[in-house]
Amino acid sequence: MVSVSSVLSPPITTQILPVALSDIDFPRDADMPNIPQSSVTYTNLHKAADIIRNHIAPVAFPTETVYGLGASALSTTAVRQIFAAKNRPLDNPLIVHISSVSQLRRVLYTKIPDIYEPLIQKFWPGPLTIILPLPDPIRNEDGVETPAISPACTPGQNTFGVRMPSHPVARALIAITDTPIAAPSANASSRPSPTTAMHVYTDMAGRIPLILDGGPCNVGLESTVVDGTVSPPAILRPGGVSIEEIRKYGGPFWKDVVTGKSEAGQDEKVRTPGMKYRHYSPKAKVVVILGQGDGSDGEIVRYIRGLSGDLKIGVLPSRLFNLDSWDEEIMKKICVVKKLGKSGADISRNLFAHLREVDEAGVDLIIVEGVGEEDEGAAIMNRLRKAATEILDTDQHIVKK
Ligand code: TXA
Ligand code: MG
Repeated sequence: MVSVSSVLSPPITTQILPVALSDIDFPRDADMPNIPQSSVTYTNLHKAADIIRNHIAPVAFPTETVYGLGASALSTTAVRQIFAAKNRPLDNPLIVHISSVSQLRRVLYTKIPDIYEPLIQKFWPGPLTIILPLPDPIRNEDGVETPAISPACTPGQNTFGVRMPSHPVARALIAITDTPIAAPSANASSRPSPTTAMHVYTDMAGRIPLILDGGPCNVGLESTVVDGTVSPPAILRPGGVSIEEIRKYGGPFWKDVVTGKSEAGQDEKVRTPGMKYRHYSPKAKVVVILGQGDGSDGEIVRYIRGLSGDLKIGVLPSRLFNLDSWDEEIMKKICVVKKLGKSGADISRNLFAHLREVDEAGVDLIIVEGVGEEDEGAAIMNRLRKAATEILDTDQHIVKK
């Protein structure tokens, strides 16, 4: 029987095409990259740029944070294709990606409030998204006005989020199309964000024509979203730039930066609509365990022992879980262990990839070691809180259900 969805949108073939970072030379203040015309990277970047320029379909590409699913931020048709491919709720705004500050000014006629100057100087290109007032509409000779950015990109908002990625492939693609590119993470909505081309393929095969494969993402968690249009300024989503770094390098205004709420109800009006939806969720249940102080892991072992039934368990340890001290009976229940690493940078880089990998091993339950909230810890715990069905503290008190 032919399903309704296949009648509406016949499956398409998804190509994965390689791009080499080493082929791209894109100095910080340049408007265009240098790429040898004879390289495969040049050919594949131009293939992707043609698809985006002609609003044929969204294209997936690597950024330093996670893979993005990009289309022209100027076209409502193109932006709607992103929402459809991801099955993303229509009220969740997209980040607009630019290749240079001059492109932002030239194409979107954007005035950048002074408060952002020190952050742009320090963190662009890089994993920082700033919230700006929507630009004035563009008026033609007949006085007809059209919005500078497609309203589909900024549903219900009088602001838009923008960032200049540092990944040479992402920046080159935006510069070659000479179009601001709207790009959410390239996962199917509610799944962990993709940090390799294969992750994107798993979620998007048959839905998009092209994935540019530039290898694994270095940061591994999405950009930090900051709002300097309000007083005091706010961090709407912790990410690749830490709160400590924003305070340190942002100048006097950012010293008082406040952190936004990380959870919100379905009907609640929130500053970052993305916060209210289920996120980063593998198929297996995720339990996060906080603070195994002395490394002897008594509480976690007791937790696993207390689980009823014949559950297949995966474990993602980071700094303190000491699996060598877990007895044989417990270890028999554990099918797969993937170490997240010890440093904040390693844990960030590995988190989504390991959640996906352990999930694919077919486990029923993934136990993840939580971390402290300092530095990269705020972004890591923000993602883990959303992925988790349960968070337990050391005394097995349920902090979240
Ligand atoms: O690192 C990243 O930011 C990645 C890569 C691809 O650049 N992109 C990304 O996009 O994470 P997405 O769509 O998965 O997350 C965008 C977040 C959402 O939580 C959304 O609600 C928020 O940014 N956002 C976008 N525009 C906003 C606005 N005008 N006001 C408040 N929040 C906004
Ligand atoms: Mg996302």
